[in-house]
Amino acid sequence: MCGITGYTGVNQAGPILLDGLKRLEYRGYDSAGIAVRGDDGIKMLKATGKVSHLVEKYNETPDFLGVCGIGHTRWATHGIPNDTNAHPHLSADGKFAVVHNGIIENFAEIRSELQKYGIEFKSETDTEVIVQLLAYNYNGNFKLALMKTIARLEGSYAIGVISADHPGTIYAAKLSSPLIIGLGIGENFFASDITALVNNTKNVIDMDDGEVAEITPDGVKFFDHAGREINKDIRHITWDVAAAEKSGYEHFMLKEIMEQPQALKATIEPRVKDAEEIVLEELKNLDMKRFNRIHITACGSAYHAGCVGRGILEALCRVPVEAEVASELRYRDPIMDAKTLVIVISQSGETADTIAAMKECRSKGATLLAIVNVVGSSIAKLADYCLYTWAGPEIAVATTKGYTTQVVLLAMFAVWAAGEMKTISRGAYISLVKDIIRLPERAQRALDLNSRVKTMAERYNSNSSLFFIGRNMDYAVALEGSLKLKEISYIHSEAYAAGELKHGTIALIEPGRLVVALCCYEKLLDKTISNIQQVKARGARVLAVAHEGNRSIFREADDVLTVPVTDPLLVPVIEIIPLQLFAYYVAKLNGCDIDKPKNLAKSVTVE
Ligand code: M6R
Repeated sequence: MCGITGYTGVNQAGPILLDGLKRLEYRGYDSAGIAVRGDDGIKMLKATGKVSHLVEKYNETPDFLGVCGIGHTRWATHGIPNDTNAHPHLSADGKFAVVHNGIIENFAEIRSELQKYGIEFKSETDTEVIVQLLAYNYNGNFKLALMKTIARLEGSYAIGVISADHPGTIYAAKLSSPLIIGLGIGENFFASDITALVNNTKNVIDMDDGEVAEITPDGVKFFDHAGREINKDIRHITWDVAAAEKSGYEHFMLKEIMEQPQALKATIEPRVKDAEEIVLEELKNLDMKRFNRIHITACGSAYHAGCVGRGILEALCRVPVEAEVASELRYRDPIMDAKTLVIVISQSGETADTIAAMKECRSKGATLLAIVNVVGSSIAKLADYCLYTWAGPEIAVATTKGYTTQVVLLAMFAVWAAGEMKTISRGAYISLVKDIIRLPERAQRALDLNSRVKTMAERYNSNSSLFFIGRNMDYAVALEGSLKLKEISYIHSEAYAAGELKHGTIALIEPGRLVVALCCYEKLLDKTISNIQQVKARGARVLAVAHEGNRSIFREADDVLTVPVTDPLLVPVIEIIPLQLFAYYVAKLNGCDIDKPKNLAKSVTVE
């Protein structure tokens, strides 16, 4: 969702801010804007729609000069997407401009209070109250006015503010919304997301809730909620610009699909010793014997990874495991206590529903283990324990390597936990570790299906509605395959437990309807095959995904994609790959905006 960035130094801020905003586009937005502190005060440019429109406006405004500025991509929450509601917002006296991510919950109350003092508001946004209140609180001391202002704000915010009276100085502040400071030489930056900074610096500082940063070209000072100066650690980013760029691929999604073998390696290799032991350094103080149940919670694809994790954990640890979407769990008053381990899964580490569910579970005494990709994110910090997937930046809205690395990390955790709980034999443990180590190579072989999947997409892309069916692990993969197709191609599809079709949904099967049958969970293959026969008898076309060497499936399905054989519990990591490619090529053939699908955002930071 919204993205913010800021720069102060000796170079023109405009191009740097616009570059940062382009890198934040993937988060989802519907308008954008920048403001700089020029020679004669604050100047602003805003545009509805793409950042490219803002770039056009910038190119037509040669006097838009200033070496200190802020920028924003807005995903509308309060007020329609238009130039007035786009950020930055300027105070009525023209002295301050602000960019803001998050939601100010008490904005209506603050606005009516300020209106009583005669302050006029221009936009419908919650954000405008920040800058108007700041100007109202200002008596020459920028920092003090900001501290006083944020003390009144309820909700969530990551903000950047510039002032006409203080050239070269930016203040940034954070509460429940991500904010990172980038350190340069003679120049410094801030952003909601590392991808906006990686072109300029590899040295960053993660801000924590309640903190304020004073950013000037010469340095950055940090203050706690009471205004006392504090020291913060610098973090060095290990990935380079290429990791956040397309590297010759037409879309980030395709690049990220293709990167899965490397991403899986990055998740697996540092955690395996002597090719037979899983070492989870991060969990050395976690006593698994304390728990008598496990809850998994997450949203979207991360929840689908959780559905796979539930199966693996129950199979190996023999404790009851539940998986539930965070948006439901948070309001369900779930039954859990100090003997419950809650596993939360999130690529971005910023999903609002997941964070709320974590807080609910913590209030009941549960222990929180997070599986997260973005280092230093809110979920990583909130959890008692955190395992990073180390998949590298994921830019496309549709997650691919994010999902597969979550699944493999859940599998590694399950094997480790079963070892701790003594519910797995040594032989089974070693055999699973060996299969996990081979996943990157098997993922590569699944990617070799690329051109065949493209042919399948050409054959089936005109279907307006289709089904994904499977049993057990195959069903969990069906959920993710169906979501992938829906979100980027806008084609309706439904995932069904294969055995459940006959209880109603089979009524929708008609001649020519495509059914994607997932057939890699071989323990239940015969059952799935009889479901295939049922839909075929009603005229459906069947595209099956099955293991290499499975001959029987060729007699049953119209088309078959074969993937390398792996342990039944690890099937999803490989089986999802052709489905990711299928969704990609169908969306491409249908002319969809693959990396930025309509109505969606990469990081869903609002409820
Ligand atoms: O960043 P998170 O993993 O917490 O995000 C959760 C979902 O919003 C996300 O998986 C979403 O469903 C993706 N668009 C799926 O591709």
